[in-house]
Amino acid sequence: MIKPNLSSAEMSSAFCKALKDKTTINPDDTAIVFYNLSSIQERIIDLQNLFPQNTIHAIALKANPITKILSRIKGSGVGAEVASLPELHLAEKAGFAPETIVFDSPCKTNAEIEYALKSGIHINADSFDELDRIGKILETVASESTIGVRINPQVGAGTIKSTSVAGTISKFGIPVNHNREKIIAYFMKYDWLRAIHVHIDSQGCPVPLIIDGIRKVLDLAIEVNEELKRHSHQSLVDTFDIGGGLPVSYHPGINPVSMEQYAAMLKTSCSELFNGQFRLITEFGRYIYANSGWVASKVEYVKRESDYNIIITHVGADLLLRKCYNPDDWYHHITVVDKAGRLKTGTDINKYMVAGPLCFAGDVIAMDLELPVTEEGDYILIHNTGAYTLSMWSRYNSRQMPKVIGYADGNDTFEILKERESKEDLFEFWS
Ligand code: LLP
Repeated sequence: MIKPNLSSAEMSSAFCKALKDKTTINPDDTAIVFYNLSSIQERIIDLQNLFPQNTIHAIALKANPITKILSRIKGSGVGAEVASLPELHLAEKAGFAPETIVFDSPCKTNAEIEYALKSGIHINADSFDELDRIGKILETVASESTIGVRINPQVGAGTIKSTSVAGTISKFGIPVNHNREKIIAYFMKYDWLRAIHVHIDSQGCPVPLIIDGIRKVLDLAIEVNEELKRHSHQSLVDTFDIGGGLPVSYHPGINPVSMEQYAAMLKTSCSELFNGQFRLITEFGRYIYANSGWVASKVEYVKRESDYNIIITHVGADLLLRKCYNPDDWYHHITVVDKAGRLKTGTDINKYMVAGPLCFAGDVIAMDLELPVTEEGDYILIHNTGAYTLSMWSRYNSRQMPKVIGYADGNDTFEILKERESKEDLFEFWS
């Protein structure tokens, strides 16, 4: 049974040990990103056990592109979902085999498509026009790629507008409602088109809605195959990509639908996905990483006024972009520890605003947060930061991206997965 998230005590215990290891953390490290590598590994194994053995679990690289983590997960037998050519190159650098890389994006150029086709990477086309581009390129290029098309099932939106992609109108995929016939015609026309892709949402979406979307596209795949058989086509749709999007827990004590429950719900509602007629692809990102990562950020100042207290700390909207710009949609639990990493206790609770270092008023990661008395030199531990945080890093004010440290349960050693950005890295970036 996978724990929904790491506890404050576990994070504090790891941080105490890390602070003692002077080769890992030095005084410049005012903020440090941690990954519990055991947690990532457990989630991957869980996924592999719950879906048919030949499933390609293409882990969404956009959720976490740290190369050393990618190389590790590749070793566990998963693939990579990429949403741009640079992400594709990162997947290649980390050693993913081409047939385990899934290339999604609504904006692939001819050159990018040709590169992916020549490399044998799985492509999910996002539109009829992209399918036609692929068709043209395949007239002159030999390819081992498997090719699919993304369908928008139009089943509705979740609670977070910016991550909902299965409403009536979406920039992703071909909307199914008015295009059924045309979609079937494209499968009839292009022999190489033999996969179907659907991705509904990321966080904020009720799981039954995700299942409804997958069911709707599965019905389409079955209909396409019936039509292909009726016309005696040799090859049928044989690959079904269910996307990612399983919501995770950002609130300690709130347990969302587990991957085990999700797989069981899918087996009930979409049994055809488990009976061998399709090879499955999944594209989870948040589920693998969000609850496996956390951040320690030093309290640089505490501003105390008669009616409010403000903690000024070293990460803000640069790392937690979504939280700062859409505070109602996103939440990160915060714990305070002392300068040695020990949990701060005490009955004297104050209310704090927790603000980052950046030069704008919206750089706030928590309001009215009740914490034990917090002082300069303490650290805040920000929970569940493993997905879509560093990968969405903002360069505003040119602050250096923090060091990333990995550790495993039951092991007192720490591995630097990525050094803190140096002054030279910064110069190079802006020149
Ligand atoms: N597949 C596709 C085609 C996607 O667009 C995504 C996420 C995933 C898979 C992975 O979804 P997951 O399992 O991680 O939920 N905080 C970011 C999230 C954007 C999600 C984008 N797509 C943001 O607010 O921009």
